[in-house]
Amino acid sequence: MLVLSLHEGHNASAAIAQDGRILAAVSEERFCRAKNFMGFPHQSIMYCLEEAGCEGNDLDRVVLVTRLLDPLVLHIRRSTHFTAADHIRQQYEYYARLHRGGDEAKVRNQYARSCNSFSSPSHYDFSSFDGFTTQKGDSEKYLEIRKKTVQDHLGVPEEKIILADHHHCHAAYAYGASSIREEKVLVFTADCIGDGLSATVWMVDERGIPTKIAETSEQMLGYVWRYVTLNLGLIPLQDEYKVMGLAPYGGSQGGEQVKKKFDEIFGFREDRWIRPRTFGHYFEIAQRLEGFRFDHIAAGLQTHTENSLANWVSYWARHTGIDKVIFSGGMALNVKVNAHLGRQKWLTNLEVPPGGSDESLPIGAGYLYSIPNSGNWADCLPLTNAYLGPNCCQIQTEEIKQKAHKAGFLIRNFHPDQVAELLAQGKIIGRCWGRMEFGPRALGNRSILARADQEYIRKKLNDKIKHRDWWMPFAPIMRADQAPGLIQNRNHSMGLL
Ligand SMILES: [Fe+2]
Repeated sequence: MLVLSLHEGHNASAAIAQDGRILAAVSEERFCRAKNFMGFPHQSIMYCLEEAGCEGNDLDRVVLVTRLLDPLVLHIRRSTHFTAADHIRQQYEYYARLHRGGDEAKVRNQYARSCNSFSSPSHYDFSSFDGFTTQKGDSEKYLEIRKKTVQDHLGVPEEKIILADHHHCHAAYAYGASSIREEKVLVFTADCIGDGLSATVWMVDERGIPTKIAETSEQMLGYVWRYVTLNLGLIPLQDEYKVMGLAPYGGSQGGEQVKKKFDEIFGFREDRWIRPRTFGHYFEIAQRLEGFRFDHIAAGLQTHTENSLANWVSYWARHTGIDKVIFSGGMALNVKVNAHLGRQKWLTNLEVPPGGSDESLPIGAGYLYSIPNSGNWADCLPLTNAYLGPNCCQIQTEEIKQKAHKAGFLIRNFHPDQVAELLAQGKIIGRCWGRMEFGPRALGNRSILARADQEYIRKKLNDKIKHRDWWMPFAPIMRADQAPGLIQNRNHSMGLL
């Protein structure tokens, strides 16, 4: 069973799977160079087909992940074009008006027209779309356009196109990619929102049969991170990792005061997620955090998030008696949460597959619909690495070489021993080798390498090369066989936990 699967929302991506094995997966931003591109992942699809050596009419199924995608977000190009100021304007001119009970169709059309970046997205035919109505109604109309686009581009008949649920795909990716088999395991998914849910819990038995044991839309950590990020003047859905990176600078005392503010209003208590009935998102966050220092806010939110998710995971572990956990969804990108979960004493195994945000949804869909029975995940073949993207020779290497040469870089083929020697001399190396890693982490094949024991290198990397904020950390790398001697409380992960 050969299956192509697509995610067209934030950080659009595609994957191709055959009989439970993932052949390729890549995000569209890697081709179009627009960070977090949203829309039809045309180039990713072409790459997946090429990698699998097939054409559209060879496919047994094409899976579209997520039923409800709001075309308004696509039209205003929020994920690729919005500044922090644009996001704040959206709060006042769109969300606040809706919260005040404004006519939804009127608010949506007025806001859409007011956006400079409003445009007709490529590949989709929106000619039959005559104005915005409700988010639900527009999402249904967009779904028909998405299906038609697949039919037109791939020559696939409608009966081969399948819709997959958002959190079902997060969970299938988590289990399928993990190395846990023939044991009972709990799978947790948590994000902002997808097909009406923000968190699910699955129990997978020794035979690989999954049962969803909990679901909720009350978990709102994703939204809170989004609005705290905006509150700090950063860009939501993009800069949350900067808030996480800032958290260690917040100190324990100031952070504790902010944490209490978050504890008062939401979190996992006893056996459920709680949230205020009338939570006003950005405005309420802004009001509650007024007067607190930026680094204390980051620290407080991080601690609150770690505790809430640990309480949630621990509750279900106690309830089921299962001590092995796999975690995915957008919240699994928070590596400090994962480290906190990994320190829970009752836990015997925690796995967090790479790229757990929405870009891995097509991999989950590929697993679900390329195996004989989507109700038995035992036939999903674990990912042994994250190198699922184009090989160096499939991309325009010459053009890249010329650009890099013009920018003053020295391009050479080096033996690993020479690379080690240069690193020891304090040189900074960019490594481009083999297939590109899937997900947001550089895992060696497209990575910047430098020795970690010289302060000037961190500064040089941040200032001159990555153009990053001073507080952002770098990840240490090591050989897998040496990790047990170097890392305490090590949990399995092929990427970064
Ligand atoms: Fe998601």
